[in-house]
Amino acid sequence: MNHLIAPSILAADFANLQRDIEMINASEADWIHVDVMDGVFVPNISFGFPVIKAVKKHAKKPLDVHLMIVDPDRYLKEFAAAGAAIISVHYEVCPNLHRTVQYIKELGCKASVVLNPHTPVALLDDIIEDLDQVLIMSVNPGFGGQKFIANTYKKIKDLKALSAARNPGLLIEIDGGVDEHNAARLIEAGANVLVAGNSVFSATDPTAAIAGLKILNGL
Ligand code: DX5
Ligand code: ZN
Repeated sequence: MNHLIAPSILAADFANLQRDIEMINASEADWIHVDVMDGVFVPNISFGFPVIKAVKKHAKKPLDVHLMIVDPDRYLKEFAAAGAAIISVHYEVCPNLHRTVQYIKELGCKASVVLNPHTPVALLDDIIEDLDQVLIMSVNPGFGGQKFIANTYKKIKDLKALSAARNPGLLIEIDGGVDEHNAARLIEAGANVLVAGNSVFSATDPTAAIAGLKILNGL
């Protein structure tokens, strides 16, 4: 399968969000990554339902909603109604993860579980078959523009081994510090979806930056 690119609108210009969504629509991007932060699970607050609904109105690509919030179950229905196609919840805040995953699927969304950099892949052993995607954080969540953590390559390999045996259709998504320098190696290691914030929106030509991540040299 060809890999997917999900630009993160956390790095977009919020005063020109429609313009930036239209740039993504016209680009080679596959999904639009939407980062929701509650100021409790992570030390930052981003945006909520009104912004997501406004994005959905203009978006021509699926919304990949990454919830960095405690007790996500309380709001899953509203995120689905706001237009989420894929919902990612953090392993670290879901004591009843199996129930949360089933609920996301009942709402008609793809279910994805996120692992923080210190959370081992092995913890997914008893739920891997139920997941559509696993999102591996390659930075500590909360902010864009951070340095990529190199241990991510090892985690992708661990997850690839687990999914090959038990859930071959699983998508592996990587989020944080992804750019033109590490993208090819991430895909080679087994990643299927690359999230990119700063490397897209800080580029002089964001459309070309997306195309560069989509068509990787040497792959
Ligand atoms: C970080 C967010 C990321 C962020 C990525 O907590 O989950 O999606 O927007 O931004 P970059 O690509 O700049 O690291
Ligand atoms: Zn994210």
